[in-house]
Amino acid sequence: MNIFDFSLKTKVKFGCGVSKYILNILKAESWNHVGLVYDHNLIQNQDVDSLIHSLGKSDRLIKAECTISEPTYDSLDNVRGQFNDPDLQVIIGIGGGSALDMAKAMAVLVHNKKPAIDYRGFDKMTELVLPIIAVPTTAGTGSEVTPNASFIDSQAKKKLGINGEAVRPTYAFLDPELTLSCPKGPTISAGVDSLVHAVEAFAAKKSNRMARFFAKEGFLRVFETLPLLVDDLDNVLLREEVMFGAFLSGIALMHSGTGPAAAMSYPMSVHYHVPHGLGGGIFLPYVIDHNIRAGYTGYADLYNPNKLETNLAQELLLTELRECWEKFQITHNLSKLGVKQADIGFITDETMQLKGALDQNPTPFYEKEIANILNMLTEG
Ligand SMILES: [Fe+2]
Repeated sequence: MNIFDFSLKTKVKFGCGVSKYILNILKAESWNHVGLVYDHNLIQNQDVDSLIHSLGKSDRLIKAECTISEPTYDSLDNVRGQFNDPDLQVIIGIGGGSALDMAKAMAVLVHNKKPAIDYRGFDKMTELVLPIIAVPTTAGTGSEVTPNASFIDSQAKKKLGINGEAVRPTYAFLDPELTLSCPKGPTISAGVDSLVHAVEAFAAKKSNRMARFFAKEGFLRVFETLPLLVDDLDNVLLREEVMFGAFLSGIALMHSGTGPAAAMSYPMSVHYHVPHGLGGGIFLPYVIDHNIRAGYTGYADLYNPNKLETNLAQELLLTELRECWEKFQITHNLSKLGVKQADIGFITDETMQLKGALDQNPTPFYEKEIANILNMLTEG
């Protein structure tokens, strides 16, 4: 049971102020023709603005704003025209998960000329994919180290990714100072996303001791720090701790798997525009509760600060998680998000299409369990 593979292809620079070293990397790699995708909300952030300004000194810089919170494949095809330059050598993404995902897609689409949707799936790219530099300005998505980029197929009403080793960033600059301007809502959503990653990567059937090690460390840091940060958003030390924890959980995620809470978040994003992190967060306590009732005991090893016996430790995790969710004002009422009783069937069906994630849950969790939770959370 101790056999595992572990690698971290992405070269990571972490700490306050490290984003200024991006220019050194561009120089060292002789990358002079640079594509940049950045979150349009960041222009008011002085650190990001001066970073973008400094990149303008590259011989050639093509810039595109990511203006969409959940990009679609159609939006990728609209933006790609700006990157239609075969001399581009690298794509930099600066922003939250959506901007980083869009940067990953542009790295694919410069030389892979078919419609973006044709690259949906795993390793569908046949031509060169440009190297990617990921510069997150939110802490939680893990996109800076994962080989995935998620987009909505607006025709099929599904959220599916462009995935493959080639879209894993070559460099990641994790600079907590860049997260200082992240507002409370996205700070919570991204942080909660990382907690979902940690819990589900820890409990996944294909998890291993290395993934569990990172998940545990990542979970503990974010779980203890995020509630403090939401009351003190300008505190860079808290920003740093959450960013570090979220990064560790991202490593756990890429060496393990997601689970039902992440899977159930997908239809919520596509149909009700619920941010991905919050979507997973809504369902996480219910998935944990289900697993405990079904006999899973592993959570006692994920979080047990008081060294309690297994049952008490698991109940403590659930109690503290619910208290934390209360503070974050994560809803228990899907009706408030627009979900009707009549929708439960298709949400269940769409979640079932992510069977790979459901299969990773340590106890059986399929149609009946999904529908039970959706019923519990939706007014009749
Ligand atoms: Fe996620």
